Amino acid sequence: RLDVTEIFHGITFPGHLHTQESLCYATDFKFQDADILIVTYPKSGTTWMQELITLVLCRGDPKISQTQPNWARAPWIEQYYCPNILKALKGPRLLTTHLPYKVLAPALQGSKAKVIYVARNPKDVIVSYYYFHKMANFLTDPGTFSEFLSSFLDGKVYYGSWFDHVKEWTNNERNNDHFLYITYEEMWEDLHGSLEKVSQFLQCPLLEHESASVKNNCSFNTMKDNCMVNYTLIPQEIMDHSKGRFMRKGQVGDWVNTFSKEQSHIFDVVYNSKMVDSMLTFVWE
Ligand code: PPS
Repeated sequence: RLDVTEIFHGITFPGHLHTQESLCYATDFKFQDADILIVTYPKSGTTWMQELITLVLCRGDPKISQTQPNWARAPWIEQYYCPNILKALKGPRLLTTHLPYKVLAPALQGSKAKVIYVARNPKDVIVSYYYFHKMANFLTDPGTFSEFLSSFLDGKVYYGSWFDHVKEWTNNERNNDHFLYITYEEMWEDLHGSLEKVSQFLQCPLLEHESASVKNNCSFNTMKDNCMVNYTLIPQEIMDHSKGRFMRKGQVGDWVNTFSKEQSHIFDVVYNSKMVDSMLTFVWE
């Protein structure tokens, strides 16, 4: 199903990983109070947060993060393999989703599951997403960067509009005790502080040596060589590693190397109009 696209609630999803049945399973997901749910728009720091939380739950012991692929220990609830994985998962369940708020809100209603939302500067998201489309054969050919940028700004890319995703999740959940908002940039600038924030939120305070091990094992340099998170376990016909790396650069502000001045201006105009009703002040503004 490499070239199949599923449409659900007016949003497109890669058919390689999603079916109508798997998407319905997610909208009807039975959350448990002990669940931890990572929510992201794609390319915003999902894998990084999956690794950080895996390590927090193991008190810095890297055994699981080095022996189990991220999708098996923090499955995306909307992807078709999730029910099977969950049968085997023990302990507090670490779950992941890219679903927009309006699709998942009914399932989360009244739940005490802890939700961690990671956002990233959308200009860096676009660049990361663009290069990912080039290597992932289950995503459509992105065309030129300009074409991809237009589709992104129109919300016509997989998983829908970045603007709606960030606004709806944060506007609706911001004041909920079970919700933590954090940015990729914050993690990048202050991994120690971010780790403290996350471990406190999860009520899992760490000793100093445990915290040092978490930071070391979820650094970009360690993760890029860990085949359990760098997607090199995925066959070449699905992800073409000769066309790029999943762990591409891991930088903040790398968008300047791909955006032209004009493209940046076009982006800013759309951003300013679409984010008027957002409650957030982003660190990159
Ligand atoms: S996905 O496909 O939605 O799950 O992708 P996601 O994991 O959200 O985002 C991938 C980008 O995150 C970068 N990354 C990291 N940056 C810094 N430090 C660490 N440890 C780290 N782990 C992953 C990864 O390199 C992708 O960003 P780009 O800009 O493409 O390098």
